[in-house]
Amino acid sequence: MKHVKNKWALITGASSGIGAVFAQELAARGCHVILTARSESKLKELARQLSRTHGIQTEVIVSDLSQSGASSELYRTCTERGRKVDLLINNAGFATHGTFEDQSIEKNHEQIMLNVTSLVELTHLFLPEMLRKKSGAVINVASTAAFQPSPYMAVYGATKAFVLSFTQALWAENRNRGVQFLTLCPGSTETAFFEAVGTDDAVVGKKATPKHVVDVALRALGTNRSYVVDGRMNYFVSQLNRIFPKKVMLQVVSGLLRPSSQASK
Ligand SMILES: NC(=O)c1ccc[n+]([C@@H]2O[C@H](COP(=O)([O-])OP(=O)(O)OC[C@H]3O[C@@H](n4cnc5c(N)ncnc54)[C@H](OP(=O)(O)O)[C@@H]3O)[C@@H](O)[C@H]2O)c1
Repeated sequence: MKHVKNKWALITGASSGIGAVFAQELAARGCHVILTARSESKLKELARQLSRTHGIQTEVIVSDLSQSGASSELYRTCTERGRKVDLLINNAGFATHGTFEDQSIEKNHEQIMLNVTSLVELTHLFLPEMLRKKSGAVINVASTAAFQPSPYMAVYGATKAFVLSFTQALWAENRNRGVQFLTLCPGSTETAFFEAVGTDDAVVGKKATPKHVVDVALRALGTNRSYVVDGRMNYFVSQLNRIFPKKVMLQVVSGLLRPSSQASK
């Protein structure tokens, strides 16, 4: 799916960061957008700005995708408003950081529901129409954390490994059926993500701009790639697990992600 003009994109997590930039870049290419997240005022302001600047159509749907039933409700609302989705961008996600036993069971549940369950459900709900039309694309946002386990971000790393594995499997299932699956694997990016994490201890390397990350994804759209990593250095780091033994990788990543409060331990 190379051309997005006059298509409809549904972007989750569109109120901020990478999702908001996806909306801006797609709107600039003439794509109509359905924006969803929890922050209604941010979504409405972005929608107003995009339709004013680019003359595209917009829909705002407020949804907490960590809640059971939210994906079906979102699909139902799109259908009721007569919107057929050509490009699904499963971007909403968040992380927690610290030793596993210190993280609340509720927060971990919320993280798995948002990063994994809602992504699987939305894909399941929107894919049949794309297959019927033999056209469409799904971009699932994983992370460079998808390529190896992430000590101190154990649940987050596992959710992103799931996203990569799931999306590559669907890439293979659908490769001759007109629907492209692409996994976007950003490294550290300048967004509100680390505010939500509550620490910069999880930052690895230099942060890219969300515009850079989105440009990389949109360039990969319409190619035959099952995943794309933003930046050469991030790509190199993501492939190290093919060279080094698991134990070595785990030690290195432990060192990178260890909370600063435990630095001397
Ligand atoms: N920034 C990085 O360094 C980085 C690196 C690798 C991967 N990623 C991935 O990139 C994606 C986007 O993150 P970002 O960096 O753009 O962070 P961000 O600026 O914090 O954006 C996260 C988005 O997700 C939405 N969201 C959070 N909880 C939600 C919920 N329960 N229901 C619905 N929407 C929810 C937020 O909107 P509301 O708060 O309004 O709901 C926001 O729009 C995530 O999947 C993240 O894991 C980020």
